[in-house]
This record gives sequence, structure tokens and C-alpha cells, in this order.
Amino acid sequence: MSAPLLSARGLKLAFGGVKAADGIDLDVMPGEFLAIIGPNGAGKTTFINMTTGYLKPQGGRIEFAGEPILGLSPRAIVRRGIGRSFQLPQLFTEHTVIENAALALAAHAGIWSPFVPLLRPGYRAAAERLLDRFGIAHLTETRADALNEGARKLADIAMAVALEPRLLLMDEPTSGVAATEKMQVVETLVRVLRAEGVTAVFVEHDMEVVARFADRVAVWSQGRIAALGPPEQVLNDPAVLRDVIGIAGHA
Ligand SMILES: Nc1ncnc2c1ncn2[C@@H]1O[C@H](COP(=O)(O)OP(=O)(O)OP(=O)(O)O)[C@@H](O)[C@H]1O
Ligand SMILES: [Mg+2]
Repeated sequence: MSAPLLSARGLKLAFGGVKAADGIDLDVMPGEFLAIIGPNGAGKTTFINMTTGYLKPQGGRIEFAGEPILGLSPRAIVRRGIGRSFQLPQLFTEHTVIENAALALAAHAGIWSPFVPLLRPGYRAAAERLLDRFGIAHLTETRADALNEGARKLADIAMAVALEPRLLLMDEPTSGVAATEKMQVVETLVRVLRAEGVTAVFVEHDMEVVARFADRVAVWSQGRIAALGPPEQVLNDPAVLRDVIGIAGHA
């Protein structure tokens, strides 16, 4: 059996009386796609924030590729190989898609500077290749604020992939995406991530997406993992159906 890529043990974090993490133990195996489901306020985003250095747990530990990462800054964690996307895409809205992609690539290369033209040929070609892989090459000259939600999510995830993560944590990659577009968006991003060998953890409220794309599902409930296993098992568990899926959908 291979070693986990990410290993969390005993993570605890309370905000006042709210236990957002109440003893989280989770191993993410290399190459797997793990879905996190659970009702609003269960602590799903809190787990991503602790893993990416945006929040510091009050107890527990996290190892990535066998090394402790707790206490590292978000930037240092990105450099170790953990990427993330947010519940709300973090694009530079007044810039075009290709400018956004070029910025991400330049930031990754560590050579961004206001004195270097953003779209010099090397970046442009790399940015075009990146966007092409996500099926949004036709949108290169579109301003980020003019994209529909599906394309915006793909562009945002492309920015995270530009940083060449080994593990990518995605917070609700399909939220706000029209039902007609959703499967296409997920298919695209799964295809790219699998081709790159990126391990993925994604928070998802759509059980059809979970059933189709997750290797395992972790059910969050009040800061704890209430169930963990393959989708066919977890999504048919009566307690999960009653307590989680019945109230899982965003209004
Ligand atoms: N920075 C913070 N300060 C205070 N309370 C917080 C903070 N972050 C999260 N919380 C609280 O912790 C709990 C868990 O929040 P979290 O955002 O992790 O839930 P979630 O499972 O991602 O929910 P959703 O499905 O609505 O995104 C909530 O009660 C939330 O209000
Ligand atoms: Mg959340």
C-alpha cells in the first residue's frame, strides 16, 4: 500500500462556541479524487483553509508527502505542491483570461515584475497551452468578468494548475454553474487533473457529480467526519441520506 499524500490527524478549531473542526482524521491517497460533502457550516471550507495555511488549527497535525506543513504560510504550502481554488473564483476581473493565466504562470516562475510585459511571447504560448487544455482557448481575449460561471470556474482552476500542484483542493467547483453546463465543467477539469496526475479533494453539493467523479466520499458533520468510503456505499447509507443529503443542497 502506498503512503498517503496528505495525512491529517486530530485537527481541532473552534470559533467561539462553534466547533468547525472537532477531531478531523483523514488520509488522501496519491492519485485519488476525494469528495467532501455535508451541510452548510459543517466545516468543509475550514478543513481546506487549515490544509492550505489560511487557518491554523488549535490542535492536531497535517503532513504532506511525509513532511509536516502545519504553521507554514499559504505561499510556502503552494510551493510544497498544494493548490486550491475558492468558493468564489479569485480572478483579476478587469483582465482578460490570457492575462490572468500569464500572471499565474509568471508568479509560479517567480519572475513577475511590473517592468516585464505580461504577455511576452513565452508566457503567451504557455498560457494558451494551459487554456487549451481546459477547453477555454476561445476565451483568451475575454475579460474575466464577462465569463459565464462555468468558464470562470475552469479559468480559476487553470490558474491553480499553473502552479503545478501535486494536490489540488477545490471548494465547490460547480457552485453557481448552470445545471446544463455542470457535468461538462467537471468532466473537463477531471480529465486535465487526471492527465497531470494531480490528486484532488473537492467540496461538492451535487450528489450526481459526487457519484460520477469521486473515488471516495467524506461526509462532514459538525466539524467531524461522519462517514467515509466509496460513493456507492456512502451515498446509500441511510444515516447519510437522512442527515446529510436531505439537507445538503444549497438553497
Ligand atoms: N474565520 C471564521 N470566523 C468565525 N467563524 C468561522 C470562520 N470560518 C468559519 N467559521 C464558522 O465555522 C463553521 C464552519 O464553517 P465552514 O465555512 O467551514 O463551513 P462549510 O462546511 O464550508 O459550509 P458551506 O457549505 O456553507 O460552505 C461555521 O459555523 C462558520 O460560521
Ligand atoms: Mg464552505
